[in-house]
Amino acid sequence: MSKHAFTLLFALLPFAPQALEAEVISSLSVREGQSLDGEWKYIVDPYELGYYDYRWQPRDESTNPSRDSFFLDVQPKDATELIEYNFETAPTLKVPGDWNTQERELLYYEGTLWYRKKFDFDGLKEGERAFLYFGAANYRADVYLNGKKLGTHFGGFTPFAYEATPHVKKGVNSVVVRVDNKRYKDAVPTLNTDWWNYGGLTRSVRLVTVPATFISEYKIRLESEETRVVSGEIQLKGAAASGAVQISIPELGQELEVKTDASGRGSFRFEAPKLKFWSPEDPKLYEVRLEQGRESVTDQVGFRTIRTKGRQILLNGKPVFLRGICIHEELAVNGGGRVTSAEQAKQLLTWAKELNCNFVRLAHYPHNETMVRLAERLGILVWSEIPVYWTIDWENEATYQRAATMLSDMIQRDYNRAAVIIWSLANETPVNEPRTRFLSRLAGQARSLDKTRLLSAAMEKHSKPGADNVQVVEDPLAEIVDIVSFNQYVGWYDGLPEKCARVKWEIPYDKPIFISEFGAGAKQGMHGDKTARFTEEYQEDLYRQTLAMLDRIDGLCGFSPWVLIDFRSPRRPLPKIQDGFNRKGLVSSEGVKKKAFFTLQEYYRKRLEAAK
Ligand code: GCU
Repeated sequence: MSKHAFTLLFALLPFAPQALEAEVISSLSVREGQSLDGEWKYIVDPYELGYYDYRWQPRDESTNPSRDSFFLDVQPKDATELIEYNFETAPTLKVPGDWNTQERELLYYEGTLWYRKKFDFDGLKEGERAFLYFGAANYRADVYLNGKKLGTHFGGFTPFAYEATPHVKKGVNSVVVRVDNKRYKDAVPTLNTDWWNYGGLTRSVRLVTVPATFISEYKIRLESEETRVVSGEIQLKGAAASGAVQISIPELGQELEVKTDASGRGSFRFEAPKLKFWSPEDPKLYEVRLEQGRESVTDQVGFRTIRTKGRQILLNGKPVFLRGICIHEELAVNGGGRVTSAEQAKQLLTWAKELNCNFVRLAHYPHNETMVRLAERLGILVWSEIPVYWTIDWENEATYQRAATMLSDMIQRDYNRAAVIIWSLANETPVNEPRTRFLSRLAGQARSLDKTRLLSAAMEKHSKPGADNVQVVEDPLAEIVDIVSFNQYVGWYDGLPEKCARVKWEIPYDKPIFISEFGAGAKQGMHGDKTARFTEEYQEDLYRQTLAMLDRIDGLCGFSPWVLIDFRSPRRPLPKIQDGFNRKGLVSSEGVKKKAFFTLQEYYRKRLEAAK
């Protein structure tokens, strides 16, 4: 489909007709800039008054938008002027943060909400450029600076930035963001998920200034644990893109100059005989410094290799068993919602460490960078996933482009994170031709962007017709990915825990086998017979029986039970037990460990001991 036809298609969809492309400049995430976090004024706008006029025409497409367009952020000239909104007198919400857990009446709110922040700026120095950077905003974000539209971004879990240079000014500036978390069939994720559809500016916002020519992206990796060769690429953006960048790794005594060509690209390669590998046992990070002109960018980077060999996963050339747990980017303890702080991320990963985990599946979307970098510092391997979840609109090209953009944004943001070893393309998607075509296109894109990591997806199993105890994994996607991962709920959605002892597995792939989910619901503090659902005893027994069943799977390379902690879900209404929470956590929504927590902890301790 030609670009023009595609833009035309765009215009027909209920999305914004002429969305301005967001920039993904991965170096912005390590640049400090001016933080715009804190209290933002907000206006709830379920009827889109601030965006559409009464003829449902987008106000920001008018050459002369009327003054009651919210993005203009104006005050009445005098007492006679009729303006029916006012950010000055509006209440505030914290950014970063979801709106759902900050105001009781917003808990279930799905729709448009306007954010406004006024900030002082010293002005740009000669030749400098400015970018407005968002860690993420769920789901659609229309961004305005001093009344000018910068762009429209879709997708709730990846960073984006807009060039602000032409519009930012010395003194007071007004940034207005229309955030809309309504669900759409053709969105990613689609209408139906088993997690809370938190809306808002859920991650940090900042204004980042860079020199006229700046380092926009850098990739660095260990090519082989045998040769200890380190290589990578650099991208300069700006007028003098053909230049040179100094790279240094002081601790290794490495210093080299990389020449960039007319398009600003440069590549490098060097041997690092003294290099220590990053691993869970020794999560060694090196300071890497990149300097060009007046700027320098510093990052903490680990070096490791990851690949498969038959049914094994090799980390730095050695077999590794993934002792995992699944985590949502939520900490509901004390009424919390989306994880926004290092402390909250620390709490979740500390519980994972207490379980003796060396691996986390960050489900079902890219989590914030703080979580990934903390996992890296703590020596925890990471599975990162895009929200291609259940049954999305496989034959819709716009939906594919959304998923593809999320995939490349995820890879671009975390390419240099040693802890991230697996990119996951999807979760529990139906086996049919349009779906497999969709996912194999994504796989091709992922491989073209990153040849250093493993690909997977959480697939499903089914019972063999006429032989209910025989569980089969049969999926054309398994031929495409590197690790055959599937979710299985024998003992919860499929029979009782006692069934585990009778199950035989048929998984006809000579690849590592990973169980990406299993689990059972338990209301913390609810006790009873081990066959009584939602008791801690049922969950504990399910874990015991499942662990024994999994130990019988040939080629098992690890698993990540569902789930570390109870989390909010609109699909879990059961009064007095679920009350809007998925209760499959090993920790309750009050932060109390359930019996099964210790079952898994002990199982992983034994595996850890055995691996020594
Ligand atoms: C699914 C799904 C999860 C969901 C879980 C459950 O497998 O991937 O998102 O929460 O099962 O039913 O609890």
